[in-house]
Amino acid sequence: MRRLVAETRLHRAELVLPMFLREGAAAPIPISSMPGVMQHSEDSFRAALVGAAEAGIGGVMLFGVPERRDAEGSGATDPDGVLNVATRIAAEEVGDALVVQTDLCLDEFTDHGHCGVLAADGSVDNDATLERYRDMAIAQAASGSQLLGLSGMMDHQVAAVRDALDSGGYAGTPILAYAGKYASAFYGPFREAVDSQLKGDRRSYQIDPANGRAGAREAALDEAEGADVVMVKPASSYLDVLAEVAAVSSIPVWAYQVSGEYAMLEAAAANGWIDRRRAVLESITAIRRAGAEAVLTYWAVEVAGWLKEER
Ligand code: PBG
Repeated sequence: MRRLVAETRLHRAELVLPMFLREGAAAPIPISSMPGVMQHSEDSFRAALVGAAEAGIGGVMLFGVPERRDAEGSGATDPDGVLNVATRIAAEEVGDALVVQTDLCLDEFTDHGHCGVLAADGSVDNDATLERYRDMAIAQAASGSQLLGLSGMMDHQVAAVRDALDSGGYAGTPILAYAGKYASAFYGPFREAVDSQLKGDRRSYQIDPANGRAGAREAALDEAEGADVVMVKPASSYLDVLAEVAAVSSIPVWAYQVSGEYAMLEAAAANGWIDRRRAVLESITAIRRAGAEAVLTYWAVEVAGWLKEER
């Protein structure tokens, strides 16, 4: 009876796995604050992609960890930069089975760790960053990315990238806009995952956690600028924002269960303080219930396996 009347059901097709490829790594490197998650070598990356396809999840979101960084984040637009290499590998290995998605942001590639380029006074230069994003979009689409994940939170980034794609021969490449992206402490473990060089914080371009309406407003703006999917991030502490975005959006709404959400549950489970499997499934069910139609989660493959076991 409970199964029959359940309002929310999880399906493996709506799970997306974030993955990290580390340039020059001979073997996968564990991320200590995210037990079970790796910075992949090329070999382990290929194997994990095949595993994700076999698990039947919906897609992967790719991040690159470069060996060298500079002020402009030039590795992001270099066709042989690590993320573009990762994208070509993924498109070739699993491009028909999974939606290959890429993080479109400069923070992994800049030596100062910000999501954009800096003005002379050290502040992030929004409009100069848009020029970099346009070039990055073309580089990613050319590498085979099937969905560009715009996570930098620059104003007008969706319009700029849409225009670059349309005029650059990639009119069919869609955009996932990190619309309701908050300046969150829950990204902490991700900084280790990508060896982030950031010293300060991102509060001048990400949303203040105190403000819920700003998330819905950003989603509406991104939809008007041409986004194909809007996302709320982090997920669990922002279910109210997620519900509001779902109520006003006419395009798909996704959520990103971020590194800190993963780390917290893993730490509690490792201590025997919570039931790991039940807590993971409950957290993702709650994110779906609040309005997300798909969820980016580091547990995507494992959860897909559990769902196959269920009646
Ligand atoms: C930006 C980006 C971040 C995350 C995804 N894309 C970091 C940030 O904005 O500080 C965080 C993901 C996570 O914490 O799991 N490239």
